[in-house]
Amino acid sequence: MNTKLRIRRPDDWHLHLRDREMLAAVAPWSAGLGRAIIMPNLVPPVVTGAEAAAYRDRILAALPENVTLRPLMTLYLTEATDPADVLAAHAQGIIAAVKLYPAGATTNSASGVRDFDRVRPVLEAMAGAGIPLCVHGEVTDPAVDIFDREAVFIDRVLEPIRRATPGLRVVMEHVTTADGVAYVRSGDNIGATITTHHLVINRNHILVGGIRPHYYCLPVAKRESHRLALVEAATSGDPRFFTGTDSAPHPDRAKESACGCAGCFTAPNWLQICAHVFEQAGALDRLEGFTSLHGAAFYGLDPNPDHISLVRRDEPARWPERITAGGETVTVFDPGFPVHWHIEDDA
Ligand code: NCD
Ligand code: ZN
Repeated sequence: MNTKLRIRRPDDWHLHLRDREMLAAVAPWSAGLGRAIIMPNLVPPVVTGAEAAAYRDRILAALPENVTLRPLMTLYLTEATDPADVLAAHAQGIIAAVKLYPAGATTNSASGVRDFDRVRPVLEAMAGAGIPLCVHGEVTDPAVDIFDREAVFIDRVLEPIRRATPGLRVVMEHVTTADGVAYVRSGDNIGATITTHHLVINRNHILVGGIRPHYYCLPVAKRESHRLALVEAATSGDPRFFTGTDSAPHPDRAKESACGCAGCFTAPNWLQICAHVFEQAGALDRLEGFTSLHGAAFYGLDPNPDHISLVRRDEPARWPERITAGGETVTVFDPGFPVHWHIEDDA
């Protein structure tokens, strides 16, 4: 059996680093990545090129010296976004993508889009310039069941946007359903990120035997058949699927509450858990594609030049149960089983 796997340095195509004390606490846990697409849902959100450049500088200041991580910034699309600002920020190398949140879909999404026709000029400019649109794919219609919101989004929003904007490159972020996987496979100019937690939990993990707020994220984990579809997609070698951890730290106080917020903090252990999932699927030879090659290719970038190793040992890998951030604790995602894959940095 394979006990050591040398792969190109991984990237993360969907990461929340937050700001201020939380940024300072969580950024070092992502410092060993090659690149990461940084989500713009701060309060207030990152909406202009100038704000993205300033946020990038705060991230770089929060990282230890000599790290490999290169943050790739995104803009938060609003109905007031100026196409010229998006094009200029992209041309200057400040942003790599734009993020679409339907208004109210998830944490810090109040400034998101309500009327998709109002962002059409931005989307057309992006299609022309080859700027990818990262999509939070859930409708917010209160009449739609939360477990159906991704599938309904595809029909009601995503397909009409893509049909109206030929050539627009789209990443369906944190895909959670067999419907999403099938949709991504059916088209051109579309890829999808898959989180580590959606590869290991289904909705029973959240709800059976007591409510587990640290497994609550959006899109919410679905039934087991959907989890299996995600594992199949991730381990299939299909280049349209790539890593996006959606590591989304929140203070425990905000999650362990009568109205707990959405997000799993996976930065410390996502890669080790991913190796476990691929091993179980008999697909360790495809791990590198998922973590280190497919996303870069989608974004038109070369793979990272350097490597890391994943080593399988008898003793389980360790990580802290929780970290502290500005006097608050933040719980690290618990896969619920021992993970025997350890990371060794070859750099
Ligand atoms: C994210 C967050 O906390 O910012 N939460 C989550 O559950 N994934 C927002 C998001 O990506 O939906
Ligand atoms: Zn996210």
